[in-house]
Amino acid sequence: MNYSQGIGKTIGVFDSGVGGLSVLQHIRQTLPDERLIYVADSGHVPYGDKSSDYIEQRSHTLTRFLLEKGAEAIVIACNTATAAAVSSLRSYFDIPIVGMEPAVKPAVAATRSGVVGVLATIGTIESARFAALLERYGEEVEIITQGCPGLVEQVENGELNSKRTRELIERFTTPLIARGVDTLILGCTHYPFLAPLIQETVGNNIVLVDTGAAVARQLQRRLYNELEDREESHSVARSKLTTSSPAQFFTSGDSAYASRIISALWGDSVIVTQLPSQYR
Ligand code: DGL
Repeated sequence: MNYSQGIGKTIGVFDSGVGGLSVLQHIRQTLPDERLIYVADSGHVPYGDKSSDYIEQRSHTLTRFLLEKGAEAIVIACNTATAAAVSSLRSYFDIPIVGMEPAVKPAVAATRSGVVGVLATIGTIESARFAALLERYGEEVEIITQGCPGLVEQVENGELNSKRTRELIERFTTPLIARGVDTLILGCTHYPFLAPLIQETVGNNIVLVDTGAAVARQLQRRLYNELEDREESHSVARSKLTTSSPAQFFTSGDSAYASRIISALWGDSVIVTQLPSQYR
C-alpha cells in the first residue's frame, strides 16, 4: 500500500439530498481517516414519492459515479433508497455496500409502553423490505407507521425550525402520541436534523431513535474485518494519523444552493460540485 497517499479507504455515500449528512457525521466520527465522498441527489429529491424502479436507477447511476471517483465501499445513507435498491446494487457491484433501515430492533428493545412509532417516507413504509422488518419484530410490540410527506422538503429548504415545519411535525406525531407511543423511530435520514424540534413537540418522555451511529459501526466492521488479513499493518499506521481528511461533496442539483445548505448542516464551509451531466 502507498502510505504517502494516506491510509484511509475511500467511502462513497449518497442520499436523495442533504439527509445523508446526518449519517456522514457519524461516519466521520467513527472513521476519521477515511476519504469521504458525498453525493446529494438534489436534482431528484424527494425519493419518498418516486417509484422503486426510478430510485433503483438513480442509485446505480450515483454508485457508478462514486466508483469512478475511487470509492472502495458505498453507504446508502437513505432508508428509501436502501429499500428500493440495496439488493440490486449488491448483486451488481462487487464492493461492500452498506444500507440502512428504520431502527425497529433497538426501538422494540427500548419501549416500555409496548407501542413504537415510525416516522418515514411513504416509499420506505410501502416497501417489501420494511414489511419484512415489521414481520420480524412487530409481534412483540405494537408498531404504528406514519408517512411524513413534506418533511424532507423542509430540511432541503433549511427550514429546521419554521412555523410550517412545526405544523407538519405536530400533524404527524399527535396521532402517535395519542396511541401511547413512547419510542419514536426517525426512519428517514433527513429527520435527525429536525430532532430538536420533534423532541420539543412530543416532549421529553418520548425517546427518539435513529440508525446513523449503527450504520457507521457496520461500515467500520465491513471495512476492517475484511481488510484485517490483507493489511495487518493498517491499525498501526492508522494511529499515526491525527487529522481528518476533508470530505468532498457533489450534487445533481444547483451547486451554489447545495454549497450553502450543506455548509450549514455539515457545520463547515464547503464547496459542492455539480455532477457531470451523464450522472445528473
Ligand atoms: N433521506 C431519505 C431516507 O432516509 C429519503 C428522503 C426522500 O428523498 O424522500 O429515506
